Amino acid sequence: MSRREVALVTGTSSGMGLATAVGLARAGRTVVATMRDTGRADRLRAAAEAAGVELDVRALDVTDADGARAAVEGVLADHGGVDVLVNNAGRGAVATLEQLTDAQLQEQLDVNYLGVARMTRLALPAMRAAGRGRVVTVTSVGGAVGQPFADAYCAAKFAVEGLMQSLAPVVAPFGVTVSIVEPGAVASDFTGNVHRADTGGGDADADDPYAELLAAYLRRTAGAFDDAQTSESAAAVIVEAATTDAPRFRWQTTEQASAFVGLSLADLDGSRVLGATSTWLT
Ligand SMILES: NC(=O)c1ccc[n+]([C@@H]2O[C@H](COP(=O)([O-])OP(=O)(O)OC[C@H]3O[C@@H](n4cnc5c(N)ncnc54)[C@H](OP(=O)(O)O)[C@@H]3O)[C@@H](O)[C@H]2O)c1
Repeated sequence: MSRREVALVTGTSSGMGLATAVGLARAGRTVVATMRDTGRADRLRAAAEAAGVELDVRALDVTDADGARAAVEGVLADHGGVDVLVNNAGRGAVATLEQLTDAQLQEQLDVNYLGVARMTRLALPAMRAAGRGRVVTVTSVGGAVGQPFADAYCAAKFAVEGLMQSLAPVVAPFGVTVSIVEPGAVASDFTGNVHRADTGGGDADADDPYAELLAAYLRRTAGAFDDAQTSESAAAVIVEAATTDAPRFRWQTTEQASAFVGLSLADLDGSRVLGATSTWLT
């Protein structure tokens, strides 16, 4: 008898990861919902109970190579496969290049790029052996459009989109599909979890040449998040990408996100994006 598809989701303590784990379980998948600290699983467990589904909640920090290997091995041993990998874990950083330390640049790559590469590499052998699999990675509109004060974050999300676009045709002959999902502003714990430039806090710092630009950017961003999509609505697109009979590479979670990504993909001389993003700083 064939077993139910097994889905491993990263970063499920909140936001889109939480809603995706519940959504995939509702769609009939056996879901391994992972998070750094399983002591923070209360919201996930409550959402699963409300939806009437069961989840296998496990610890996983995607920046920990040994832990990631042990987690995937454990899922394979206990569930017999990993058919769907949703690389959702991620974290933002608000700072321009001069405000970023090497450690902050590295931290952004570790969670948003290297963690995704590592998890995908660990899951691929079982997918190839099974002759089927789906890798769905939550990137961002910031994976296609570079944005002010998102230098490190967009760089990592661009990197992961390049990785996935390169990988997609190579694993397709083995029955593995690769997709990216590009949300715009989504209401979640994301803005609270973001690393911020240390500008001294509070009012614009007179010694910081970027303080006024950053203040203007933060005002604009707050407006964008007033209209943010819910995590559940964005997760519905992630679940669709992970379960559809007609998989495709690139998904956005709103029409606005599609328009924004489209601006960049059609911007051959670079003027369209810079024309738009420079207005965010005034
Ligand atoms: N919200 C937005 O506007 C937005 C827009 C575009 C794309 N995204 C992307 O969407 C994804 C989900 O974000 P979200 O909006 O749902 O934000 P969120 O509520 O902050 O969720 C992010 C999740 O990632 C987890 N995480 C962070 N570092 C991790 C690590 N090293 N290992 C494992 N898990 C880790 C967090 O877990 P902890 O509880 O352990 O911190 C949290 O569960 C991210 O990749 C983000 O970049 C978000």
